[in-house]
Amino acid sequence: MGLWIDTDMSVDDVFAILLLQTAGEEIDGISLGFGVTPLTQVARNAAGAAQAFGWSIPLHAGAERAILGGQEHATRILGETGIRTRGRTLPEAAPPPLPPFLPALTAWLEAQERATVLALGPLTNLAVLALARPDLLPRIERIVWMGGGVTSGNHTASAEFNAIADPEALAILIARGVAIRMIDLDACRRVQIAEADVTALRAAPGPNADLLADLLGGYLDIALERGRETMALYDPVAAAAYARPDLFRFRSVRLDAELTGQHTRGRTVVETRHPHTHNAEIAEDLDAAAVKSLCLTALGAAA
Ligand code: RIB
Ligand code: CA
Repeated sequence: MGLWIDTDMSVDDVFAILLLQTAGEEIDGISLGFGVTPLTQVARNAAGAAQAFGWSIPLHAGAERAILGGQEHATRILGETGIRTRGRTLPEAAPPPLPPFLPALTAWLEAQERATVLALGPLTNLAVLALARPDLLPRIERIVWMGGGVTSGNHTASAEFNAIADPEALAILIARGVAIRMIDLDACRRVQIAEADVTALRAAPGPNADLLADLLGGYLDIALERGRETMALYDPVAAAAYARPDLFRFRSVRLDAELTGQHTRGRTVVETRHPHTHNAEIAEDLDAAAVKSLCLTALGAAA
């Protein structure tokens, strides 16, 4: 079974890819899309991470805007690069001109019988695929998506960032019947990192230990600045749900995207009643300690 990653390549996206590699997963391709930063910065981050960690996964350029043209970012929280740090940064690698994602993703799907897409950002690229090549959608067994929130949001009170950045993209995928396994904020917030994890990572042997500790520490600072002592891991939890589904309990639900609410646009509406309407899954429970260990082990291995 093949794996394709669609990402806005912020820092937790990098951690997620490191987790997959340490778990022995083969990644066939990566499509980049706008998200916490504009696409140009996403491409720079991807090139820098590839250089720092020796990735040779093919990279492709995707959407600069949401399907209806909006451009929501999260630089207010994550800074201009989308990757906060306590010192060291990813290498400044000029990204080569990237090929467009759609021909590559369609060619890849044509060669698959059962494919999974791990989506770590807004769902725009995948909605473009759904509109351009609906005939290929049955080849996608599921999209494992870090996004949404069953009970609340993070970008707004109601909406998680990846959801509100392009709710119409989510609605398109739902309408086209693509199976989505949503690893939402509630699930991700079960897996928290703290200062002790940064300290331990800095002590790891290896040339990237300080870099990774600075990036993990910069990520933790988002929470520390808000008076919290721990920070949730997001994208690595979705990567773990792909690599180690045995660590999770999934539940069938009805998933819809709120598109019009004045205060609730981007909310993921989860309905557990009426099983005949169910169209998606959420991670209802997980072994948080094991998932955290997978992530920190991967960072230690990449150090
Ligand atoms: O809301 C968290 C999500 O937004 C994560 O995927 C993070 O990387 C950003 O894309
Ligand atoms: Ca992301």
